[in-house]
Amino acid sequence: MNHDTHDRIVGAVPAGASDRESASRAVRDMFTSIAPRYDLLNHVLSFNTDRMWWWRAARTFDAILRQSEAHVLDLCCGTGDMTLALLRRTNSRGARIFGADFSHAMLQRATVKGSGSSLRWIEADALRLPFPDHQFDLVTSAFGFRNLADYDAGLREIVRVLRPGGECGILDFGEPGGLVGKIYRIYFKSVLPAVGTVISGVQGPYKYLPASVERFPAPDEMLVRMREAGFSEASWTPYTFGVAGLYRARKAAR
Ligand SMILES: C[S@@+](CC[C@H](N)C(=O)[O-])C[C@H]1O[C@@H](n2cnc3c(N)ncnc32)[C@H](O)[C@@H]1O
Repeated sequence: MNHDTHDRIVGAVPAGASDRESASRAVRDMFTSIAPRYDLLNHVLSFNTDRMWWWRAARTFDAILRQSEAHVLDLCCGTGDMTLALLRRTNSRGARIFGADFSHAMLQRATVKGSGSSLRWIEADALRLPFPDHQFDLVTSAFGFRNLADYDAGLREIVRVLRPGGECGILDFGEPGGLVGKIYRIYFKSVLPAVGTVISGVQGPYKYLPASVERFPAPDEMLVRMREAGFSEASWTPYTFGVAGLYRARKAAR
């Protein structure tokens, strides 16, 4: 990978990617390869904090989730934990919640975890969603948006499927500062890739993770991009000293 590639791809750049299409393919293959161990690794490597982050992010949108007939899309849903966290915040059978992901293997696990629920699962690329304009009251993405091959195109696609006044929540890793940041970086760049590689049995994905977080826009820049894409009231709330954080924004009402 060279500087040229970095400049041309305005999103995630996994090893070997040379353009937006190959970056997307590499991301999908990577998640497909770790799907069998994904949940276990998530819980182990985050010391179970991931459950609290999903719950906290979902709770933020209670006002929407408690509406009967709420129409919700969880993008890059993977094995479905964020989608299930959203479902648990609803209090009526009327809410329609979709989980979408482009890795079949990840979605298969989501389907099993959500069996018996009203959740609907869709195999789809977040950059080309199979939904008409103005469909959703809420679009979320947990730890998935950072993997898109084009962040601005991803934001525009979320804006397109949101109804005017609808909300968006993007939960993803951050880079904490200060002493916490120093300790965290040692863990994230050395310990996590080593443990992740051993448990998953796959070389690559757990080295890509810290690299993708480093490449992801900092909160200030991400908020500018969100406003440029058509969001208003964009904000970022740090979780656990900024190890993760929630971007929240509303699509401008017409
Ligand atoms: C780190 S996992 C997050 C899964 C889940 N949201 C969670 O919180 O555990 C990222 C997911 O994003 C999916 N993904 C990445 N790029 C995508 C795209 N362009 N379209 C759809 N899904 C995508 C991957 O297949 C993977 O399942």
